Amino acid sequence: MNGILVVNEFLHSNKFNEIHAWLVTAAKKQGIELQVRTNAELLIDIPIGRKDINADFILFWDKDVKLAYYLEQLGYPVFNSSKAIGICDDKALTHLTLMNAGIPMPRTRIAPMTFDNIGYTNYDFLMETAKSLGFPMVVKESFGSFGQQVYLVSDYGELARRVSQCGAKPVIFQEFIRSSEGRDVRLQVVGDRVIAGMYRYSENGDFRANVTNGGRMKQYEPTPEQCGLALQCCREIGLDFAGVDLLFGGKEEPILCEVNSNAHFKNIFDCTGVNAADAIISYILMRLIP
Ligand SMILES: Nc1ncnc2c1ncn2[C@@H]1O[C@H](COP(=O)(O)OP(=O)(O)O)[C@@H](O)[C@H]1O
Ligand SMILES: [Mg+2]
Repeated sequence: MNGILVVNEFLHSNKFNEIHAWLVTAAKKQGIELQVRTNAELLIDIPIGRKDINADFILFWDKDVKLAYYLEQLGYPVFNSSKAIGICDDKALTHLTLMNAGIPMPRTRIAPMTFDNIGYTNYDFLMETAKSLGFPMVVKESFGSFGQQVYLVSDYGELARRVSQCGAKPVIFQEFIRSSEGRDVRLQVVGDRVIAGMYRYSENGDFRANVTNGGRMKQYEPTPEQCGLALQCCREIGLDFAGVDLLFGGKEEPILCEVNSNAHFKNIFDCTGVNAADAIISYILMRLIP
């Protein structure tokens, strides 16, 4: 059996290379040759299918959803699917997809779409959002990771400045879950199981718990309610594996923060000793040879 690990041509940091190497090693341990190819090497060519792909499956560790879709159209089993990756990559789409599934989540407003060369010429929607969500308010770029495009704004002036800095990029506005300030839970899901959990907390006063942002982490035994919520989100979105971030509500009940289709699993390994790469490869094998 052999597979292709699709990665992004233009991301070269160690942080990413390390995850790719772990996946290749995990595959090797299970007798699978996983060849690394970048999204630029597998350039989409329509309507001709590529002749240089020899794989029983594609492990898609990128967000180039058009390429994932193309590979699906060529008939390859792709993990995660292009649709699931697309829903996770866009935080607005994640909340929209889950809104009718009874998933507790922060009240969320999605900024109206505008155009690059125009931006926003009328801020009435922002005024209305300020009135309904109040302050402090969480502003997130729809496409962002590691907490780097997530902001807390404390008044209307800051909100307007932040939105104008984002230009025409899609953003969402969220109720600030104060009971979760500086802490959250990351659960690693593979198939229909939560394989590991960690509690992340910031000690530097930042409201974000991301480890990349200076947050600390410790091993965490998730409650059945947290596990149920994470698994339900993954099922609804159609994910094979994911990292699910949960906030703490006023009674410590879980509230969905976001779902990551290509979650960096090194931190959770350092924290718990659980190697998500092994579980992901076993899961793919199980799916291909039930
Ligand atoms: N509505 C919210 N209320 C309180 N804290 C939040 C809220 N949304 C996000 N956070 C905090 O910000 C962090 C980053 O947000 P998240 O949506 O997970 O974005 P990213 O994809 O950048 O990790 C979360 O881990 C959490 O600690
Ligand atoms: Mg997150």
